[in-house]
Amino acid sequence: MNYFEIKKNFLEFFEKRGHKIIPSSSLIPQNDPSVLLTTAGMQQFKEYFLRKKIPEQDFGTQRVTSCQKCFRTTDIEEVGDERHLTFFEMLGNFSFGPVKSDDPSDFSTGGYFKRASIYWAFEFLTQHMDLKIDYVTYFGGDSEIPEDLESFNILKELNLPIKSSGREDNFWGPTGNEGPCGPTVEFYINGLEVWNLVFNEYYKYPDGSLKKLEFPGVDTGMGYERLLMVLEKKENVFETSAFDTIYKILKPFIPQEYINFKRDQRIILDHLRAIVFLISDGVLPSNILRGYVLRRILRRLFLKLKQLNVPKKSYNILIQKTCEFYSKSWPEVENYKKVIEVFEEELDKFNLILERGIRLFNKNIDDFKNKEKRARKAFDLFSTYGFPLELTKELLKSNDILWEKEDEDEFLKLFEEHKKISKKLFDDEVE
Ligand code: SER
Repeated sequence: MNYFEIKKNFLEFFEKRGHKIIPSSSLIPQNDPSVLLTTAGMQQFKEYFLRKKIPEQDFGTQRVTSCQKCFRTTDIEEVGDERHLTFFEMLGNFSFGPVKSDDPSDFSTGGYFKRASIYWAFEFLTQHMDLKIDYVTYFGGDSEIPEDLESFNILKELNLPIKSSGREDNFWGPTGNEGPCGPTVEFYINGLEVWNLVFNEYYKYPDGSLKKLEFPGVDTGMGYERLLMVLEKKENVFETSAFDTIYKILKPFIPQEYINFKRDQRIILDHLRAIVFLISDGVLPSNILRGYVLRRILRRLFLKLKQLNVPKKSYNILIQKTCEFYSKSWPEVENYKKVIEVFEEELDKFNLILERGIRLFNKNIDDFKNKEKRARKAFDLFSTYGFPLELTKELLKSNDILWEKEDEDEFLKLFEEHKKISKKLFDDEVE
């Protein structure tokens, strides 16, 4: 089984157990203004958890399953290591209350809860995927929310090592500033958190207060690329069947002297895929909100392609092949011409900024090595030449220069002062 087959296997496993397979929603959230981009499988179902929408009416069942397109901006800086991605796919199964039966051998269409969720996750991983689970974790309780003893007792039946932790690791949600949330059970394989089972028992309000939900629900999420990593016994997500086809296309374009620059190559792979999915879902580069997220990803991609001297003639081939490969699973990314159009337009705009920024960085490298001057220099590049801080950070990293917390603080201070001055100038003009 490979990238295309394993997700099908997952969805069919749950389909057999009374779930309706629901297509992924767009990366642009349709009914959740509190978040810029879709970050979790449960987002398109938020109203079903609250019973503002009735799953039985819309789906003919209280159980659904999906493979959701997700994008997490929080992980941008981590991309390039073994497992972090911006765009990723998330497999999930969901139950919207009220609970009708929590028996894992009940394959009907009623709502279920902790027992069925935990047993099915265990069955899927160990019997269907033949994986060995290292350990599981559950919510150990804190001053506000009691320990999840129900999950603990179910987990004991599975004879797995059990660990507990607090709000930080074993409590999930909400997305944005309010919504369903609850304690979690997490399955770990080869040291990786692979599957997160969220038991939505609470509603969190913007002021942080919690209310018990009338009907508890289930929201599970398994990062697809991580599952592939453990199944295909790979050291990192980029070697799995989710990426290896594109990696094989990229590799011949990487000049020999950069062949060991793995982190940069992984960033190229991640960002290439991310822009294909963002643009195909209708995001366009701009200076605000999700348009800015795309601009940032595009610019970092340009920088990496340039740093590794990847020939320009390969850009369109890379985009076309990326679209072709993923469109077998996601027909919406078929239109590579559209992606190329946005890519080229943005590249033209950025080339000027980029070339000037890199030239100035190299010319002033001694100042960047100097702790006293570093933040000010980075700020000058940004404010005078439009060169984004994240790219300066990339250049620093490539030159083994640390960007420390003091540098960040100093930069932010300069930025705030700059904002005040520009505002004043603007106000003066208005008057
Ligand atoms: N919402 C949870 C997550 O994103 C489980 O699906 O991890």
